[in-house]
Amino acid sequence: MKKNFKKLGLFAVVALGSVQLTTAQKAPQLGKASVDEVIKAMTPEEKVDLLVGPGMPGYAGLVPLEGEPDVRVLGQAGGNEEVNRLGIPKTVFADGPAGLRIQPKRENNPNTYYATAFPVGTALASSWNTELIEEVGKAMGEEVKEYGVDVLLAPALNIHRNPLNGRNFEYYSEDPLVAGKIASAYVKGIQSHDVGTSIKHFAANNQETNRLSVNAHITERAMREIYLRGFEIAVKEAQPWTVMTAYNKINGVYASANEDLLTKVLRDEWGYKGLVMTDWFGGYPGFTSINEKTSVSDVVAQMEAGNDLLMPGTQNQKDALIKAIKEGKVDEAAIDRNLRHILNYILETPTVAKYKYSDDPDLKAHAEVTRNAATEGMVLLKNEDNALPYTSKKGTVAVFGDTSYDFIAGGTGSGDVNEAYTVSLIEGLTNAGYTIDNDLQEAYVPFVKEATAKEMKRRKEEGGLLASVQRIPEMPLDKEMLAEKAKSSEVAVITIGRNAGEQHDRKINNDFYLGQDEIKMINSVSDAFHAERKKVIVILNIGGVIETASWKDKVDAVLLAWQAGQEGGNSVADVFSGAKNPSGKLTMTFPMDYNNEPSAANFPGVPANDPKEVFYEEDVYVGYRYFNTFNVKPSYEFGFGKSYTTFEYSDLKFSTNNFKDEIEVSVKVKNTGKVAGKEVVQVYVAAPAKMVDKPSAELRAFGKTKVLKPGKSEKLTFTLKARDLASFVDAKSAWIAEKGTYTVKIGASSLDIKMAKNFTLDQDITVEEVNNTFDLDVEMETLKN
Ligand code: BGC
Repeated sequence: MKKNFKKLGLFAVVALGSVQLTTAQKAPQLGKASVDEVIKAMTPEEKVDLLVGPGMPGYAGLVPLEGEPDVRVLGQAGGNEEVNRLGIPKTVFADGPAGLRIQPKRENNPNTYYATAFPVGTALASSWNTELIEEVGKAMGEEVKEYGVDVLLAPALNIHRNPLNGRNFEYYSEDPLVAGKIASAYVKGIQSHDVGTSIKHFAANNQETNRLSVNAHITERAMREIYLRGFEIAVKEAQPWTVMTAYNKINGVYASANEDLLTKVLRDEWGYKGLVMTDWFGGYPGFTSINEKTSVSDVVAQMEAGNDLLMPGTQNQKDALIKAIKEGKVDEAAIDRNLRHILNYILETPTVAKYKYSDDPDLKAHAEVTRNAATEGMVLLKNEDNALPYTSKKGTVAVFGDTSYDFIAGGTGSGDVNEAYTVSLIEGLTNAGYTIDNDLQEAYVPFVKEATAKEMKRRKEEGGLLASVQRIPEMPLDKEMLAEKAKSSEVAVITIGRNAGEQHDRKINNDFYLGQDEIKMINSVSDAFHAERKKVIVILNIGGVIETASWKDKVDAVLLAWQAGQEGGNSVADVFSGAKNPSGKLTMTFPMDYNNEPSAANFPGVPANDPKEVFYEEDVYVGYRYFNTFNVKPSYEFGFGKSYTTFEYSDLKFSTNNFKDEIEVSVKVKNTGKVAGKEVVQVYVAAPAKMVDKPSAELRAFGKTKVLKPGKSEKLTFTLKARDLASFVDAKSAWIAEKGTYTVKIGASSLDIKMAKNFTLDQDITVEEVNNTFDLDVEMETLKN
C-alpha cells in the first residue's frame, strides 16, 4: 500500500509536471511555432498590442515627457510592441532619408552615436547613378544595423509636384521613373545588410500644408502614371520590407484607410508581401487632435484596408480596436492577415536573429562615401568662359553669403541627421589649398553665429523638430569694402542657402524668389568684381527649386551643390578645383517663373488660408511633361546639367524597327573634351496618342557612362518593354501600348535631344488590365494636350 502510494505520488508529480509543461507549451513561441499558430493563440488584447504601436518614445501622444525614454536606441522614432508570452520582441524603427536619425548622446554614457549625414534625396537623385546610390545605401545600412535598428524609415519618393513642397529635398524627382529607380537602388543597398526600409509616403503626399488631412483629388490615370509608378518600381525591383502610408486623403479616403491603394494596387496587383505601417498618427485629422481625449482614427477602416500597423499608436486607437474585435465589428480575417504581415516582418529582423550590433559603424569610410556621392549629384547650371574649375591657388578667394560660413548639410524634421560635423564651404576650400579672404571671414563668422543662434532659439520656441524655417538675412556689404575686395582677391564666390522641412511648405517670396538682400548681394558683388574683370561663382546650397532666371546672367558660373551632407564643403571644393568633374543633371524643372508651374493655381489648395482640398488639375502634366508639351520655356529644363568636358552622341541603333515585345536601343557616347567625365544619357519616347492624350515625350530609360577619358567612348544599351511604351487608359482600366509610330529621342536633357529614330508597333498591346480604382469624389476638369 505504502509502496503503491509512493508510486502514485511519483505519478502525481510527473502528471503535475506534465500539466505545467503543456500550459507552457500552449503558448506557441514566435520563431518556433508557425506564425498562424502564434496568431491563433493571441488574445484580442495581444493582437491589438501588435497592430497598434506603443506610442512615440519620450512622448505621451505629442506631449514630451521628462527624462530619457527607456528604449534600445535613443532617438528611434518608434517600433512595434512586444508580446512576451508569445516570444514576440520589440523591434526598432528610425528615420530617415539622408541617413540614420538617432540621438548622438545618451545620459551617463561617454560614448557618442553620431550617424553620417549623406546628401539629401534631390542631391542623390541628381547623380542619376543607381550603382552609386546602392553604395550609399550600403553605407547607411551598416549604420542602421550597427546601431541596433531594424528598419530605416526611408527612402522617401513622393513626386515633386510643386517646387514649394517643404519636403522636396527628401524626395527625388518630378519623374516617377527616376524616383523609382533611385529608390530601388537605395533599398537594395540598405537591405543588403538584412535590415529593412520603409518606402514612404504612399502615396500623393505632395505638400506639407495641412498634410494630415488635406483631400487630394487626383484622377486614376495621374495616380497610376505619376504618383504610384515610382512606388511600383521600387516594390517590384527591390521588395522593401515595409511601406509607410501617407497622411493625406486621396479622393476622400485617407491613404492609410484606402483599400484601393493598399489592397487592390499594392497587394493584389503588385504582389507586395511586406508590412504596411501608417505615417506617425496617420488617419488623425491633424496633430492637435491627437491630444484630444476622445479623438481616434478610423481604426477599423485602416485595418480592413490593409494598413497592418498603426504608428506610433495611441491608447484611443487600442481601445477602439479591442472594442471592435470583441464586438465583431472588424473583419477578423483582415486582422489576422495584418498580424501575419507584422509577424513575418519581425521574423526577418536582426532583433530576432539576436544580432550583436557594435554601436561602432565605420563613420570614417562613410564620410568618404558621402563626399563622393555629393559631388556626383552636383549640377553645373552655368559656366561662362570656363569660370570653373577654378584651379589657381594664387591670391585669395572672396567668399560671400552667410551660408558659405555655415553650410547646410540637409533639411529639417525627421529627414535631419545628427551628424558629428558639417564641413562648411570655407573649410572645404581651405582644405583644398585655397586662401580665403580673412576680412570677410572675420566679419561673416560672428554675424552668422549670432543670427543662427537667434533663429535656433526661435525654432525651439516654435516647437523644435517641426518648427518652420526662416532664412538668416544676408550680411549687408559695404560698397567701398567690395571695391577693395574686388581688387585684392582673385575671384568671388557667393553661396545662396535654403532650408525647409516637415510640416511647412516653402514660400513664394523671399524663398522661391530670392530676397532683396540676396539680390543686392549678387548685384553688388558682381558689379564690383566684373569691374575688375574678375569672376563671380554662385554656389546653391539648397534642397529644392528656386528662381534663377532673373539673376543668372549677372554671374559667371552657377553650381547647384544641393544640401550635400556633412562633407558638403569638401565636396564643393572637389568640383570647384576640378578634382571632380560634375556629372549631375536636374531631376526636376527650374521654371522661369513660379506661375509657369502647372500646379501653381492649385497649390497648396483651397480655401487658401486653410487648404482642405487640393485639385490635381494638371493631371499627368507634371514637370517637364507639362513644360515640354505646352512649350513653356524653363530657366533650366529637366535633365539639364553641364560638364567640364563635352560629349558627342552617335550610332543610335535599334534591335528592330518593328516592335513585338521589346526593343533594344543602343547609342555611343564619346568624350570629345579635354578632361575625363561621365555623361547621363536620357531616353525619351514620344508615343502615338489616339486613345488618350499624352505628353510630347516621356522618360522611359536612362543610364550613365563610366568615367570616360578624353577621346574615349562607351556604348549604352537600353531595353524597352511594352510596359515602357504604355499609358494608362482609364476607359479600359488597362495599360496599353498603342499601335503606331514611336520616336525614341536620346537626350542630354529633356530639351537637348541629340538623336532620334522611329519604330513602329503594328497592333495595340494591352500590357496589363487592372482594377478600377481611385474614383474621383468630385467632378474635376483636367488639363489635356
Ligand atoms: C514623417 C515621417 C517620419 C515619421 C517618424 C512623420 O512626421 O512624416 O516621414 O518617418 O514622422 O519620425
